[in-house]
Amino acid sequence: MIKLAPQHIGLHELLTKRWSARAFSEQMIGDKDLHTLFLAASWASSSMNEQPWRFVYAKKGSDVYNDILSTLMPGNAVWACTAPILIAVIAKTTFDDGNSNIHAWHDVGAACTTLLLQGAELGIYGHQMGGFDRKKAKHLFQYPDTYEIVSMLALGYLGDPNTLEEPFKSRELTPRSRKSPQEFVSTSFSSL
Ligand SMILES: Cc1cc2nc3c(=O)[nH]c(=O)nc-3n(C[C@H](O)[C@H](O)[C@H](O)COP(=O)(O)O)c2cc1C
Repeated sequence: MIKLAPQHIGLHELLTKRWSARAFSEQMIGDKDLHTLFLAASWASSSMNEQPWRFVYAKKGSDVYNDILSTLMPGNAVWACTAPILIAVIAKTTFDDGNSNIHAWHDVGAACTTLLLQGAELGIYGHQMGGFDRKKAKHLFQYPDTYEIVSMLALGYLGDPNTLEEPFKSRELTPRSRKSPQEFVSTSFSSL
């Protein structure tokens, strides 16, 4: 099942193909393709070319995979547990001189987008999740205070949506929708 963006005239095919899947097949992502995905992330632009993104990835069955899974909100864990790869997407929030990098989260989001677009090219789909227990993740992973987990990312090949419980099955089968540019583009600040 591919959920193409419905109103896509003029858009690049990759932009129409990427979507946040919940049903994943059991097929593991090979190391070569994983490398390609992270290479795609590396080519995102970033403030001062700081490249503040960090990715900690885990294959299904590993301890780190189970730890990441244990931090997810139940409504995410119930389907994310089928993904062959889980990733903690992390921002380095300071420059090496200690100053705060206020653009770090922005740049990490950009890197996720390039990673996911490359994924769409390879038939690999991702689902970003802000729904996880930050305190638990900090406690489990013991990373320095200069880093923050931005999101968790489930990654894999598309599976059968009929294997999902409700309401996730319905969500999986519902067409994607977006605001039209008229709703978020203007030529004046007064119309925000
Ligand atoms: C930072 C971020 C956090 C998200 N958190 C969740 C989440 O916790 N659970 C979930 O099911 N989807 C989550 N999503 C996925 C969005 O709901 C999804 O991207 C949006 O509905 C648009 O759908 P599409 O990606 O298929 O175009 C998140 C997406 C982003 C970018």
